[in-house]
Amino acid sequence: MRKTMVAGNWKMNKNLQEGVALAQELTSALKGTTPRCEVVIGTPFIHLATVAQVIKDSPIRLSAENCSDKVSGAYTGEVSAEMVKSTGAEYCILGHSERRAYYHEDNELLKEKVLRALENGLKVIFCIGEVKEEREAGKQNEVVKSQLEGSLFNLSDEQFANITLAYEPVWAIGTGLTATPEQAQEMHAYIRSLLASKYGEQRANDTTILYGGSCNAKNAAELFANPDVDGGLIGGASLKAPDFLTIINAR
Ligand code: PGA
Repeated sequence: MRKTMVAGNWKMNKNLQEGVALAQELTSALKGTTPRCEVVIGTPFIHLATVAQVIKDSPIRLSAENCSDKVSGAYTGEVSAEMVKSTGAEYCILGHSERRAYYHEDNELLKEKVLRALENGLKVIFCIGEVKEEREAGKQNEVVKSQLEGSLFNLSDEQFANITLAYEPVWAIGTGLTATPEQAQEMHAYIRSLLASKYGEQRANDTTILYGGSCNAKNAAELFANPDVDGGLIGGASLKAPDFLTIINAR
């Protein structure tokens, strides 16, 4: 059976002390328990090394929210995949729609970032999804397909084993407009069919596909009940421990 997962994406929220406090709250709640899904928290770079220490005896895994496409050197302000790995993080979120929209990250650049992350032993949570106009024009499948082809389908089957996908319809992110369980299931099944054509049934069945976009403590169970929805990538609702814990328990 493929892995199920609930991953938090803190985005640009919480200073170091606040982030540590949230990680402590989650750690005390989950220590000694065996959640039914893998639990990941994605934090800003500056939190990683400290939060890694806080969660070290808990089932929580750590993720960065980005990494550089470059290996190392004169790239002021950038953070390499190797640096991320050295903090104790295990995952890196890449391809988030906010990075695509506000920092002009395209499929080609994201392909490089994915390679840097994998070369450094990080696993990748890769986000794909259409904007509102594309959904209204019925182009969501086309968009998602080209995102996969443009950034991931160069990978070998062995490399692809380190990819978790997150389908995040951009119109649902932070808007309170969640995709219906039917819309999520339909897209997740389509994504899995693309993986089957490219890598075969086994890889398609083994790949974890998360839903993201206004997933919260109230609607998570209904979304996760779909056969192809293997968990969630949670933004806003991951910033409050009780909500995030409810979502973890819904999986
Ligand atoms: P949201 O964000 O849960 O706040 O909609 C999800 C995401 O962007 O990963």
